[in-house]
Amino acid sequence: MHGKDVVLDGVSMRFGDFTAVQPTDLTIEAGEFFSILGPSGCGKTTILRIISGFLDPTAGDVRIGGDTMTGIRPNARPTALIFQNLALFPLMSVWENVAFGLEARGIAKATRRERAEELLAMVALDGQGEKKPTELSGGQRQRVAIARALAVEPSVLLLDEPLSALDLKLRQHMRAELKELQRKTGVTFIYITHDQGEALTMSDRVAVMNRGVIEQVASSDEIYSQPATPFVASFVGEQNVFRGRLTAVNGEVAEVETAHGTLRGQPRNGVAAGDDVMIFVRPERVGLSRAGAAEARDNRLPATIERRDLEGPFVNLHCRAGETSLMIHLPNSGESGPDLAGEAELGFQIADAVVMPAGDLARD
Ligand SMILES: Nc1ncnc2c1ncn2[C@@H]1O[C@H](COP(=O)(O)OP(=O)(O)OP(=O)(O)O)[C@@H](O)[C@H]1O
Ligand SMILES: [Mg+2]
Repeated sequence: MHGKDVVLDGVSMRFGDFTAVQPTDLTIEAGEFFSILGPSGCGKTTILRIISGFLDPTAGDVRIGGDTMTGIRPNARPTALIFQNLALFPLMSVWENVAFGLEARGIAKATRRERAEELLAMVALDGQGEKKPTELSGGQRQRVAIARALAVEPSVLLLDEPLSALDLKLRQHMRAELKELQRKTGVTFIYITHDQGEALTMSDRVAVMNRGVIEQVASSDEIYSQPATPFVASFVGEQNVFRGRLTAVNGEVAEVETAHGTLRGQPRNGVAAGDDVMIFVRPERVGLSRAGAAEARDNRLPATIERRDLEGPFVNLHCRAGETSLMIHLPNSGESGPDLAGEAELGFQIADAVVMPAGDLARD
């Protein structure tokens, strides 16, 4: 097996007068583990159905390994699709499920059986071929579905939230297994999820999608530390958000007039004086000093600590500054003990604050 690249060239999808996918250009590299991350209804499954050929785009062209897919039926494409609600055939044995796609291709039974056993070994289900799907655990059934998809030797495996039906422990275990399988086979994986942890831990690159638009395509690290839009900033991880009006940009420093006085951060996306802006600061980049203590941070503001939640290795502080709710993550050290409460001063550095034109935020 080997992966092929997937190119979307001006692909869009309209249903009546509703546009589910705005015109999109996207290149997914051969052998890449690529995730599409976004909230419910943003258009993820629609993109997958277009790539697999179950849906014809309203406009644009899909190319796989350089070949246009226009007019090519799903089963003639070098893709295989794993649906969110996978369905194994309950009356067939596990190996017959895996070999299902091979029978249609006229491959003899003995060869099908052999191939199924190889695939079952690949997903760590050696020797389970005679069982019925009902005799397997949820995670094992999921692996049978993956083996079945791989049986037709796709160059591109399309996975639509394949782990969403599993419990947390199993999901975490399967993440590692899927990643390993992708490495072993070299097949291009296009993985859809609305679970950011899943996308960030498994992917070479992540596309973040909002209302039919891919707002950013980048590595996990870059998505987290260099979000391109307010939506990406607020959808991935937690954020503190300050709103205000930009008064000046001096080189790498943007000055913003807020309800908490002037706050400063790094200007992004061409913000200019007079713009309504948002400042984003991650909870782990906000520091705390008890009121009155002098600590040199670029930005400082008074706040009230309303609640302290112990998470084990770190502590979450829920704070309030006027109308603004703020969150601080502190390492669980001697300074973040149970007596943390009341008035305090928060601070953060310019380098840890991103200033962008105000825009869509992700809903919690
Ligand atoms: N056949 C269709 N006819 C009309 N509208 C559709 C059709 N298929 C999808 N839509 C709409 O297009 C939008 C995108 O749907 P899609 O299934 O791609 O979302 P999604 O990102 O996969 O969401 P989820 O995370 O809930 O699976 C939704 O608003 C949906 O209602
Ligand atoms: Mg979907």
